[in-house]
Amino acid sequence: MDPSILIFDSPQKVAEASCDQILRLLDQARGERGSATLAVSGGSTPRIMFEAMAKRPFDWSNVQVFQVDERCVPPDSDQSNFRMIRESLLNSIPIGENQFHRVVSELAPEEAARLYVEDIRRTFDLSPGELPVFDVIHRGMGPDGHTASLFPGEPLLADRTGIAAAVYVEKFKQHRITLLRGVLECARHTLCLVAGKEKAEAFSRIFLEPYDPVRVPSQIGSQDTVWYIDRAVDDG
Ligand code: 6PG
Repeated sequence: MDPSILIFDSPQKVAEASCDQILRLLDQARGERGSATLAVSGGSTPRIMFEAMAKRPFDWSNVQVFQVDERCVPPDSDQSNFRMIRESLLNSIPIGENQFHRVVSELAPEEAARLYVEDIRRTFDLSPGELPVFDVIHRGMGPDGHTASLFPGEPLLADRTGIAAAVYVEKFKQHRITLLRGVLECARHTLCLVAGKEKAEAFSRIFLEPYDPVRVPSQIGSQDTVWYIDRAVDDG
């Protein structure tokens, strides 16, 4: 058994275990460096994790939260990851407006991406060409093996020096803003949450197929990547 795979009885248990580990890692990072950085994904699995996180008595001071990706829709759209994160987490925790770094998704995609990169560079105080090292990146995986908004065959998967970019997702006929592969690979800790039998096949491809993130974007990992999966994925 790959030591980096943790199996739970239900999506709720996946959500609770990953939530507790994220908060533990943030607290550890803040203890070591005075502050902590987290990037969170969207989708339905993350929602139950955020709902669990909202109930935890966690001190959010000196934590900066970013988005792994966002759909290019207004922030009040039912497609918006920010709206889901705000409703399931931000409205319930003691975190300042300036601690959550939203993708300004209502702008034109290229402009939204440019501003987001600027925000990341400023917050991490990056030198030109330097990539941000997030303490924790939380990712999901789609049934096609995509992660963030990096879908199989996406040319930007070859870009390991950029911070974030606008991508057009053909299958959803939608523009999105996403962190790029190099940033995902730099994370100190990556937690990937996968639940539901519809993802079992894609999950097995991560470990059974030759390493090729352009074909299987969820193969992207960092120095510490742990998979939180439910039985439906494991039994698939
Ligand atoms: C998005 C996400 C995406 C998501 C996976 C899993 O904007 O859709 O960031 O990468 O995490 O598709 O989503 P589900 O948990 O809804 O299947």
